[in-house]
Amino acid sequence: MLGHGEFVSGQVLADTLKVSRATISTWVGKLENYGLQVNRVHGRGYRLTQPIRFIDKKAIIGALPDGIGNQLGRIDIFAETDSTNKQALSGNYDDLSWQLMISEYQSVGRGRRGKQWVSPFGSNLLFSLAKKAHWPPEVLYKASIIVGLAVAQVFQQLISCPEDVKVKWPNDVYINGRKVAGVLCELQGSPVDESLLVIGIGINVFNQPQGEGIVATRLLQHMGGEPDRNVILAKIVERLLIIFEQAQAGALNELMSDWASFDFLLNKPVTVSLGASLIEGIARGMNEQAELLVEMPDGQVRAFNGGEVSVRA
Ligand code: BTN
Repeated sequence: MLGHGEFVSGQVLADTLKVSRATISTWVGKLENYGLQVNRVHGRGYRLTQPIRFIDKKAIIGALPDGIGNQLGRIDIFAETDSTNKQALSGNYDDLSWQLMISEYQSVGRGRRGKQWVSPFGSNLLFSLAKKAHWPPEVLYKASIIVGLAVAQVFQQLISCPEDVKVKWPNDVYINGRKVAGVLCELQGSPVDESLLVIGIGINVFNQPQGEGIVATRLLQHMGGEPDRNVILAKIVERLLIIFEQAQAGALNELMSDWASFDFLLNKPVTVSLGASLIEGIARGMNEQAELLVEMPDGQVRAFNGGEVSVRA
């Protein structure tokens, strides 16, 4: 009832939902716990500061080309779940088609390196795309790199300054120096066997995390018009299915060089944190194994396949 973003009086909400006004006030408090901003104005009622257009299966399918839509075995949309990656990992995969799980809210959203991914209800994109297959090991190994590339390529088509889109190794997507999307790929099973690849993506569309030290942005700030979450999701799913097909068909080297044109860290002074040790140097791109290359002060180049990388001021 509040989704349109206009004021609705407490009495109208109470009468329609057949509860007391005190209950309405408690429920609105619950919406605020989901991260939504609600204006409460005496004499006018309640209003969401940002209207919500819900994730909708028909709208997603309508925005997918036929050849892509028919590769999706299943689309599940949750109002709330713990984590779409967790759901995708515990899903039932009786065939080898792609499965898509989307949620308006995650109570335990997983980020990389054990961090949490927090996003207000109905504001952003939180989804996992998963497929069980005999994945070539080299595709699995580079999965998170090509996912970051796919998301960045779609953002380039969406925003007003495409040259502002970058990828911070391995797969954080940035616009104008600020993080706009994160990727968490998880794998179940062994790379030499049939394995389940889960690609989890979180995109700041209308909302961005705030707080000290967080350097983030949202698509809304960079697009000419109002973002349509269903259309953005469809475009990313389409690009991912195509890019994984290309990778399986042997185009990994080409994709790696496409990635290089988005390299946010290239030639920047960086610090790599590996456990307790901090290593400083200049980022020099990625090698064939998708490892980050860093030139040390003595001129030697070291390759890293993990660790938290930050740009030094
Ligand atoms: C990162 O730390 O940058 C990766 C964040 C990945 C978040 C997404 S949101 C949808 C999917 N489900 C999760 O629990 N995590 C990923």
